[in-house]
Amino acid sequence: MRLWKVRSSRGGAYSEKKEFPRLIFTSRDDFLDPGPAFIGLERAPAPSVRPRGMDDISLKMTKFDEQDEAQPRREPSKRSEIPSFIAMDMMRAAAAAEAEGRRVIHMEIGQPSTAAPMAALEMARAALNEEKLGYTNALGVDALREKIAASYAARYGLAVDPERIAISTGSSAAFMLAFLAVFDAGDAVALPSPGYPCYRHILSALGCRSPLIETGPESRFMPTVKQLAALDEEYGLSGMMLASPANPTGTMIQRERLKELADYCDRRGLWLISDEIYHGLTYEEDAATALEFSDESIVINSFSKYHSMTGWRIGWLIVPERLVRVVERLQQNLFISAPTISQLAAMGAIDADAELEKYRSVYEENRAYLLEALPSVGLGEMAPPDGAFYFYVDVSKYTDDARQFAQAMLEEIGIATTPGVDFDEERGKRYLRFSYAGRPEEMRDAIERLRHWPRLHRS
Ligand SMILES: Cc1ncc(COP(=O)(O)O)c(C=O)c1O
Repeated sequence: MRLWKVRSSRGGAYSEKKEFPRLIFTSRDDFLDPGPAFIGLERAPAPSVRPRGMDDISLKMTKFDEQDEAQPRREPSKRSEIPSFIAMDMMRAAAAAEAEGRRVIHMEIGQPSTAAPMAALEMARAALNEEKLGYTNALGVDALREKIAASYAARYGLAVDPERIAISTGSSAAFMLAFLAVFDAGDAVALPSPGYPCYRHILSALGCRSPLIETGPESRFMPTVKQLAALDEEYGLSGMMLASPANPTGTMIQRERLKELADYCDRRGLWLISDEIYHGLTYEEDAATALEFSDESIVINSFSKYHSMTGWRIGWLIVPERLVRVVERLQQNLFISAPTISQLAAMGAIDADAELEKYRSVYEENRAYLLEALPSVGLGEMAPPDGAFYFYVDVSKYTDDARQFAQAMLEEIGIATTPGVDFDEERGKRYLRFSYAGRPEEMRDAIERLRHWPRLHRS
């Protein structure tokens, strides 16, 4: 029974005969102007059982009585039935193991082990002392938007109007803003697989479909325009997501292929949403931004990774001019504005390249070490990553249940990783993702633990 809270002391016939006391409204006015005393309301009875004179909005009501048994609440919404973000579940499991006194090496989560850069911390301290820290404009602090725009000129040689930049609560909130801005329920948005799971989960919560573009080591886990076109033909796409460097593989799309995808999206009127959160964390060549190929792309980025500020929850998106007001309205209503202290701290972080380059060189060192060390312990099946801080390793020699394998690795040798099923529900059963965002000594410790792990000697 669907229950609605209503109250009434007027109108209608009141019957005690049925299982529930009933109030039947006989006119629209009674229904529109109910008074206190009743709660619980069913849909109108079928015409055949309606008393004479009862109009279409006649309703059956149960009497409000505090001694009545409480009615069960409806189940959680269907839209909330999304899978968990397994990397976060693994982080929680690792923290629980640590709370029991075990020493765990964290390779499960894409999180630098370093704090925010000094200049960011100084800005935050000064803000605590000197600023009121009220809301900011929904699109963010202008000075930060200008600095971000200037960074596009410096890094990519691109002129980006600061007005097109919106500051968000991490890139995670930027996904919500972007998806809500350009997709409706039922729309189909192509997602490369394996890929960052939250795109799929957020789109599902928003009622969108997300057909997958399956990629593998042969294409360095990057989609081709041919695959995109085939999916477009089948589903009538509204857009696609792309991340390069990618999570979980760390691989990067070649400039030419990115241009082809952007051109296709332009021709077909699809939204290309480019998650560029790992830009700056590359080891061979720099990553290209989708904005180089199409001003119609929506670019999402964050201070979490390169700037080492995960917990500050601060990111940004760049949208075509006509979407600026759309995103502003969404932000006003959903989040009001991104955290003010984090926006101010980000102003310091954006100029901290010298310090951040040192962080990057640690990941580079970790990557070089693991490229040799992982194969030496039987974990060499992977596409060498160009950027980010992940290795996505095929462990099918040892298991077809990566989740169970990751659990065993945590319990038996204290290394937390993320099973591939987070990124690819089916094929991911054969993969584990190792994050190398930690310290070099932790990487060495991890390899020593793996070297002596009996499960890697059972192939
Ligand atoms: C590809 C990708 N995009 C977005 C995020 C979320 O980052 P943020 O902290 O900016 O919300 C992550 C986090 O791991 C990620 O890997």
